Amino acid sequence: MARILFIETTYLVASVLFILGLRSLTRPDRARRGMQLAAMGMVFAIVGTLVNHEIVDYRWIVAALAVGTVIGYPLGMWVPMTAMPQQVAISHMFGALAATLVGVAEYYTAAGSVGPGRMMALGFETMFGSLTITGSLMAAGKLQEILPGKPMTFRGQNIVNIALFALTVGIFVYLIGHPENTVLFYVMLTLSLAIGVSMVLPIGAADMPVVVSLLNSYAGLASVATGFAIGNNVLIIAGALDGGSGFLLSVLMSKAMNRSFSNVLFGAFGTPPTAVSKAATGLTARSISAEDAAMQLAYAKLVIIVPGYGMAVAQSQHQVRELAEHIESRGGTVKYAIHPVAGRMPGHMNVLLAEANVPYDRLYDMDEINSEFDRADVALVIGANDVVNPAARSDPSSPIYGMPILNADHARSVIVLKRSMNPGFAGIENQLFYGNATSMLFGDAKASLTKLIAEVKAV
Ligand code: TAP
Repeated sequence: MARILFIETTYLVASVLFILGLRSLTRPDRARRGMQLAAMGMVFAIVGTLVNHEIVDYRWIVAALAVGTVIGYPLGMWVPMTAMPQQVAISHMFGALAATLVGVAEYYTAAGSVGPGRMMALGFETMFGSLTITGSLMAAGKLQEILPGKPMTFRGQNIVNIALFALTVGIFVYLIGHPENTVLFYVMLTLSLAIGVSMVLPIGAADMPVVVSLLNSYAGLASVATGFAIGNNVLIIAGALDGGSGFLLSVLMSKAMNRSFSNVLFGAFGTPPTAVSKAATGLTARSISAEDAAMQLAYAKLVIIVPGYGMAVAQSQHQVRELAEHIESRGGTVKYAIHPVAGRMPGHMNVLLAEANVPYDRLYDMDEINSEFDRADVALVIGANDVVNPAARSDPSSPIYGMPILNADHARSVIVLKRSMNPGFAGIENQLFYGNATSMLFGDAKASLTKLIAEVKAV
């Protein structure tokens, strides 16, 4: 009795910590704390589970702890921020693998003699778990460029996928009435693994972060089912939080890219265009020296910094903060304009800037800052491209047409830090770089910012 009370109490504490952790993640300045709270919640959940009387042998658990540490530590410590999306996909793969293995073990141990209710939970768990395993592996492969990033399609693919899914669900429903049919259970598992592959292959690498977050919600559903199958409350609560937040994030990301959710999943979007549009033919971009750029920044009253993926690649967030401090010490105001899909994952820019101790109140969401570009002296674009591309407003043939963008082109002067005239993620030309008010400061963002800091100090 005391043992059960202890387990349920640790699970309750763990669940509260998970909820508080998620809540803290809604603000960048509290995000680190949110992760710590969630990690602490996980410790409580593990401790509660370890005193479960059903555990007959702790040796396997110790071995699993060792293997988990060997895999988890390098994943957490050494994977660069730019590879975080594929790392997250791999983490989901492991979560789904755990849920699937528990489902198979439970079914196997019961030798098919499970009641319909339990079969429903086990079937759901193995179905969603298995398709998340292979789907996440495909997503990680595309993001890491091990698999081709372009959508891999064939005629009638959506129909084949729907038929495959219908067949699997049909077997699942049949199994609820006939749980003793072991062969069909494993057929369902195999088909689910195949669905994961066929579901993700037709989606382009550009949309993988949306897919990864959707798979996150599937892994959450599998955990809820695992919780019901083995009577574990913390799994039900954590799975529901995981499932709900993953689904909402997928929808929000699609919205920020001005895409419908179904278009992401069935539209075979995300094809890296093979050729850059010729829109800019005949135009030349004007380059600027660090000295001249620094002069503008030093005398500006309002500078709006637009960070993008290039800032993450160059890991130049500390230099960005330092430059901003120098501008401010000369009486200027610096604000940061954060586009919801800048970088390669949700909150990418917020996390990096928070890491560099940029005050949170200087970060502005797109809706808050867009009207301010009209009175900005300088829009300083650091490694951003698609999120400031005016084609999104004016060119219906552009793949990013309709995506809300930051109004950097409304500023009196635009200074762009990037290495070349190469396109960004969407693979398209950016007219902003050829604008009358735009100057390009070519080079790696970190090196350029270091020069700018020295020059602003010298003004
Ligand atoms: P991008 O449009 O991808 O442009 C990044 C730019 O950074 C490139 O043009 C590149 O130009 C420059 N760059 C790369 N390394 C650099 C370095 N070391 N120093 C200086 N510049 C460097 O980035 P964005 O404006 O942030 O847009 C994000 C894109 O990703 C959008 O298309 C968005 O839809 C997509 N996306 C985002 C997400 C999320 S959730 N954030 C998810 C899926 C897709 P050079 O090579 O010339 O330097």
